[in-house]
Amino acid sequence: MRYFVFGLVLVLASCKPAGPPPVPGPFAKGERIYYSRCITCHQRDGSGLLNEKRFAADFTDPGGVLVRQDAELTAIIMNGLEGRYGRMPAFKPILEEEDVAEVLNYIRFTFIKSAPIQEAESRTEE
Ligand code: HEC
Repeated sequence: MRYFVFGLVLVLASCKPAGPPPVPGPFAKGERIYYSRCITCHQRDGSGLLNEKRFAADFTDPGGVLVRQDAELTAIIMNGLEGRYGRMPAFKPILEEEDVAEVLNYIRFTFIKSAPIQEAESRTEE
């Protein structure tokens, strides 16, 4: 926990003034994964845009990729995808399915408020 708070302080300290601050909340684990694994392409605001160039899928579109089924999205995150905008890397060697559920919850919670949330907390607790 202390490590996480320290990490959060570092993240906050390196924040650019624009863009929303990290959201400490029910999906803190998913947030950590997003910040360490996904943000370089999907960006802090989830738009997938950097200097108006598209790097990755847009998570902010309420009718976009995040409305798809958990199983389908999990498979894409695990196995990767050669898509229209580029290559989404496979995370199978790095992330467990529980991690993927956490990060999916985080991105839905953060970028699309109305999206369904899985019961990842209870699934991941031993
Ligand atoms: C190296 C860049 C990169 C990283 C890192 C990355 N993605 Fe992606 N992601 C992409 C690209 C590019 C696409 C869009 C593929 C397309 O449709 O053209 C994408 C698409 C997606 C999609 C939508 C799939 C679809 O059908 O279009 C999801 C969900 C997703 N990424 C989740 C994640 C998560 C979660 C992480 C972190 C664990 C992550 N990505 C890390 C590049 C990345």
